[in-house]
Amino acid sequence: MTFQTMPKVELHTHLEGCAPPAFIKQLAHEKKIDISGIFDAGGGYAFRDFDHFLKVYEAACTTLQSPDDFRRLTMAVLEETAAHGVVYMETFVSPDFCGGGDLAAWKDYLAAIEDAAREAEDKLGITLKGIVTGIRHFGPEACKPAARCAAETFGDFVTGYGMAGGEMVRRPADYAYSFDMAREAGMPLTCHAGEWGGAAMVAETIRHLKVARIGHGIGAIDDHAVIDQIVENDLVLEVCPGSNVVLKAVDGWGSHPIAKLRDAGVKVTVSTDDPPFFHTTMTAEYDMLNKTFGWGEDDFKALNKTALAAAFCDDDTKARVAKRLETAQ
Ligand code: HPA
Ligand code: ZN
Repeated sequence: MTFQTMPKVELHTHLEGCAPPAFIKQLAHEKKIDISGIFDAGGGYAFRDFDHFLKVYEAACTTLQSPDDFRRLTMAVLEETAAHGVVYMETFVSPDFCGGGDLAAWKDYLAAIEDAAREAEDKLGITLKGIVTGIRHFGPEACKPAARCAAETFGDFVTGYGMAGGEMVRRPADYAYSFDMAREAGMPLTCHAGEWGGAAMVAETIRHLKVARIGHGIGAIDDHAVIDQIVENDLVLEVCPGSNVVLKAVDGWGSHPIAKLRDAGVKVTVSTDDPPFFHTTMTAEYDMLNKTFGWGEDDFKALNKTALAAAFCDDDTKARVAKRLETAQ
């Protein structure tokens, strides 16, 4: 059984992390950059653990040097994502990788990404929105220009602010300034937490950063009080099971807490995070959830409804995507 053609909503992807290895290799070749060390013999990305993954990720990003590179990247990513039935996708975009946090440069990169998104929407029927993202291990000071870029470009395409990167660097409260800046601009918020930092990191993130969604959040499973807090605050988890399995945030599919969290009343959604890094696709995620937990079409329909309700886009876009979810079923 495959769920490939089923229309899907995906909330948690990293734009550069969706880059097919062949695409990055081609850019490296064009620019004469030697990053051969980040690939394995089969041509895929090679990394040992989460910290090494972040290093390999950043090495791959050194090939992305201009707005036009990001235009090509966005097109390549959307072709791949649309092939797995995704009709609406949110992706993390980082001013740090797009002009080093400079606002004028950021606007140029953003224009190129939006251009490609419009073209893909016309050609492939997939809608893309961006969540501007600070990179936690670059430190709280480096997240401030990212938040400023977010606040200054909040609108039709840029729909939210978030934070990714090394979760164990500093504590959530250290990043409150950036989140406050984005919130004051009216932006909805999400933050990676509880991928590595357990239930305490999830609780601190809710308390200090006042997010609507949490990236991963799986560590909440170890503390009933934190699960209650998620449910009571109507927060949504962007769960990426295949990513968690490959990075060993969990021991394997069988012990992934997504089903227990859902059964405890938590609003869970499913995403691929950085699909070529984790050898996954949305189809593969659904197939594994079906094999592991017996989830079927009705479960996935409910999942997509939850995801669309939690999407950061405007109501008109939601209404259009809702029709796509309904009519194709
Ligand atoms: N987790 C945290 N930070 C990231 C990731 C991820 O999977 N991908 C890119 N930055
Ligand atoms: Zn992520």
